[in-house]
Amino acid sequence: MDKYKYTEIAAQIRAAIESGDYPVGSKLPAHRALAKKLQTTAVTVSKAYQLLAQQRVVESFVGRGSYVLGERLDKVIHAQHSVDELNFSILQPHLTQSVRLLSQQLVTSFSHFDDTRLFGYSENSGLLEHRSAGAKWCQYYGLEVADAQQILLTNGAQNALASLIQLYSNEGDCIAVEALTYPGILAICKHLRRTVVAVAMDEQGMLAEDLQAQCSKQKPAMVIVLPSQQNPTGATMGEMRRQAIAKVIKKQDIWLLEDDIYAFLNDQKLGPISNLIPSKSFYISSLSKSISPGLRCGYIKAPQEQLAKLADFIRATLWLPSPFVFEVATNLITAGQAFEMAANQREFAGRRQRLVTRHLPQARIERQRASYSCWLHLPEGVTTQKFTCAAAEKNIIVSDASYFNSASAVNAVRLSVMSVAQESLFIEGLKSINQLINSPTASYLN
Ligand SMILES: Cc1ncc(COP(=O)(O)O)c(C=O)c1O
Repeated sequence: MDKYKYTEIAAQIRAAIESGDYPVGSKLPAHRALAKKLQTTAVTVSKAYQLLAQQRVVESFVGRGSYVLGERLDKVIHAQHSVDELNFSILQPHLTQSVRLLSQQLVTSFSHFDDTRLFGYSENSGLLEHRSAGAKWCQYYGLEVADAQQILLTNGAQNALASLIQLYSNEGDCIAVEALTYPGILAICKHLRRTVVAVAMDEQGMLAEDLQAQCSKQKPAMVIVLPSQQNPTGATMGEMRRQAIAKVIKKQDIWLLEDDIYAFLNDQKLGPISNLIPSKSFYISSLSKSISPGLRCGYIKAPQEQLAKLADFIRATLWLPSPFVFEVATNLITAGQAFEMAANQREFAGRRQRLVTRHLPQARIERQRASYSCWLHLPEGVTTQKFTCAAAEKNIIVSDASYFNSASAVNAVRLSVMSVAQESLFIEGLKSINQLINSPTASYLN
């Protein structure tokens, strides 16, 4: 088959989507009809649609056709609309306790403010003491950092991911990701027109053998790995798996983006993959999950040789993240409070997971002892769409598997154990979910 032809057709359809000829949610023409119009074969059109699906521009359903996708992130993470909504969709810290400590620290940090450096443009990549605190934060959870200058500051992990993808890959490049992964990564790839390559997983996350196979076949520019408490499955790589992944990356000579923002939830300290291949990897951390997503404090540890290039890019695109918030974060880290707050969140998540065990006793669930979420496999015959709608009717908001999916469809949903603040409401929600998955005669199955 002529590769140019199907890629050209995919580009034409993409342009038509962007110009509004095919609006979000609309159905694309059937393969045969479009093939006839373009004087090509249905197989070529099918390949073009597959390519668009890989780029997360369209979604294809067997027997139903291909539909134009819109912005997915607001569908997977629903903002809280009312206090009584049982919102199981947001992975964030339990804010009641962290907000109190955080506001105290804000007052303290700003009460003896005479540091004019915080009010002006600081050095390109932020103040060195803020970068040192970032180094301390990452080191505490196992990262080796020889020099604090290797830490660059970003507006959260999302900004770190987007910057690195933009800088270290080109339009049209393939990026290898876990078959189920954080939708924010898929959204960046879609916007920047990178093609997502799904790598198979098991209970420890990405499989090194499949990464090797995909590298040989698809030649990705980079691989993005979530080694700890993976979003959405909770999969956590043991030492051996980390070594095996590092070996493949070294051999294939590709970049690693190691997004380890959930490392603080691990039961034991696990050395990041980046420790094994420091010149090939970018390690990403953030305070969003342990302290507050509102801080927007992210850290990248970059290879020494890449520092100037990445610092230049950050300088050009965001100049520098707010020194005020990094001052607060730095004070929390240096006083040790940040680590206590993270440990408290871990304990809270563990308690919530025990409630899940108690109230969803028969469910098939993937998670770790203290993950922020559960990956709930739905019973035979229950589709994700039907379950999500049935749950919504009971005022329960869950995140649909398709948003995490870089490969084939799975019937599952992600449940956040953190976002329903009140325990009694959380239990009420779990009981309703239990009813939904244990009532095979329920009308939603039909
Ligand atoms: C794996 C992963 N990476 C990055 C992010 C974004 O984090 P931040 O709020 O620091 O941008 C999230 C948020 O859910 C996430 O789950």
